[in-house]
Amino acid sequence: MKKVLSGIQPSGKLTIGNYIGAMKNFVKLQEEHECYFMVVDLHAVTVPQEPASLREQSEAVAALFIAAGIDPSRSNVYLQSHVPQHAELGWLMTTLTSMGELERMTQFKDKSSGKDNVGAGLFVYPALMAADILVYNADLVPVGEDQKQHLELTRDLAGRFNHRYGEFFTIPEPYIPKVGARIMSLDDGTKKMSKSSPNAGSYIALLDPPDVIRKKISRATTDSGREVVYDPANKPEVSNLMGIYAECSGLSLAEITDRYEGQMYGGFKKDLAEVIVAALEPIQERYHEIRSSGAITDILATGAERARAVASVTLDGVKERMGFLPAR
Ligand code: TYM
Repeated sequence: MKKVLSGIQPSGKLTIGNYIGAMKNFVKLQEEHECYFMVVDLHAVTVPQEPASLREQSEAVAALFIAAGIDPSRSNVYLQSHVPQHAELGWLMTTLTSMGELERMTQFKDKSSGKDNVGAGLFVYPALMAADILVYNADLVPVGEDQKQHLELTRDLAGRFNHRYGEFFTIPEPYIPKVGARIMSLDDGTKKMSKSSPNAGSYIALLDPPDVIRKKISRATTDSGREVVYDPANKPEVSNLMGIYAECSGLSLAEITDRYEGQMYGGFKKDLAEVIVAALEPIQERYHEIRSSGAITDILATGAERARAVASVTLDGVKERMGFLPAR
């Protein structure tokens, strides 16, 4: 049994990209492993958040975890801010990280480019993410492609700590799906689908009603060709839609190509919308049930309690090795 950890930010609405790139694997991995799935609210505040909306989104994301199939009796589901060891180890990790390493992070470059008032939290964000993972000595981290660079930094920081203070941290491995690791935007096949996009037509939110999904898919960009073939370099938009189709239906890419041979994009897109609606409907139903049951508060309390018990042992070990006097 391995230890698995991952997190999702409660900012904006979760998209089908978050589901395919990350959450689907959370559900799969919990069958065999000890899992920690967090709503990373401390990461969300690296950009300004309205307090009421942060509260709402944090609970919504936790409910979506459960609705997507995470079983809270098996996996630990909790908020990052309920486990203070993350922030404390995050600080210690910051002291091990160089400015140059943080400057090279493409996510930081993307999120800060063209902005005058970039918070220092956005810059040191990857050190907190490293702490999230290392505080449980996680072996596996299921994420989409865009988090790979942060994972590499985490591995470097774990190695650096071990080298300086003696073997201690497990070096974590990323767990990235082969298809669907980078779901692209519906209006531009070269941009990642993102929940923070100002254009709601560019993403499918997990809670979008069926008619909205149908409309967004019918408007999704394709190309001037007519063949439904998987060729990300030359047909990025169609390949992206095929990836979503495959992940939501269980069909392989080759089966999808066979099914639409000799047809144009219209029928493919119509079916794709139905495939997405069918995949999301049960999640949406469970989501509304969970929200109205009020069960989330207890789930988060139990998850955080178990997480704190593990995280505090690691943090004590780190502090002892670094030379902090124990508190009495
Ligand atoms: P976040 O909240 O941006 O995204 C959550 C997860 O969804 C994946 N993802 C995608 N996968 C495929 N296609 C897409 N278009 C797409 N968009 C997002 C992300 O790769 C991610 O796995 N820094 C992290 C949160 C985090 C974390 C951690 C993750 C904080 N601490 C510790 C793992 C371990 C983030 O901002 O993810």
